[in-house]
Amino acid sequence: MSHPTALIIGASRGLGLALAEEWLNRGWRVIATARGGSDRLAELNLRFSDALEIEHADIVQADTVRALGTRLRGREVDVLFVNAGIARSNDKTPVDVGEQDFVDMMLTNALAPVRTVELLGERVASDGVIALMSSELGSIANSTGFWPLYSSSKAALNMLMKGYAAERPHDPRALLLIAPGWVRTDMGGEEATLSIDESIPLVVDMVEANRGKAGLRYVDRFNRELPW
Ligand SMILES: NC(=O)c1ccc[n+]([C@@H]2O[C@H](COP(=O)([O-])OP(=O)(O)OC[C@H]3O[C@@H](n4cnc5c(N)ncnc54)[C@H](OP(=O)(O)O)[C@@H]3O)[C@@H](O)[C@H]2O)c1
Repeated sequence: MSHPTALIIGASRGLGLALAEEWLNRGWRVIATARGGSDRLAELNLRFSDALEIEHADIVQADTVRALGTRLRGREVDVLFVNAGIARSNDKTPVDVGEQDFVDMMLTNALAPVRTVELLGERVASDGVIALMSSELGSIANSTGFWPLYSSSKAALNMLMKGYAAERPHDPRALLLIAPGWVRTDMGGEEATLSIDESIPLVVDMVEANRGKAGLRYVDRFNRELPW
């Protein structure tokens, strides 16, 4: 029996690297992308040389995503997971943020992930899952105003995926906007409430549980729907 395949975009470190490792440990094949070199991915490749392929893509550079799509032509994956994201000027407001930080977040966290789905989505099996790393902070309904600029970029990501789904009412794939919890990574910081091991295995369980279930959902790691 052939092994399922996950294509993880933005897997050099943090949650993306952990997603790659979790699926490799479960016997999946993984295509993991980084925009630069990644010692951590290279280490993983020593342990899983048969099952892991390391690819290059910078989601802000659309040509690199197109080129990846060309290299993957003729192949099918079971999960496409767009994980890449950035957080800048977390405590700033619209009046004191450096505008470029806001533009960079909107590009990296909202426009580029959905463009990546547009460019690579046809590689995903009809019973597969297209997942994007959103955030609890992307919920407008639940917002407390924490990290307002980053949160706006995740809310924009959610909205753009609404548009993607609306244009494809008969898409058989599950389309998931995932909130992984507040996790200790370079972005989450040391004060975050969860370790990577307390989040990522649940995220992977949840993605697997959604295979074959069409439709767009904004969900947490327990597969509970979140208010938009
Ligand atoms: N940690 C949390 O508590 C938390 C909570 C909710 C949501 N999230 C989301 O989860 C995702 C991963 O976060 P993390 O905590 O693992 O952050 P992280 O440790 O800062 O890692 C971010 C990852 O995104 C990659 N990346 C950034 N810009 C990219 C680009 N233009 N093209 C390709 N890859 C790019 C980074 O690659 P480089 O190594 O090249 O920089 C790195 O692999 C993000 O989307 C984040 O917003 C995190």
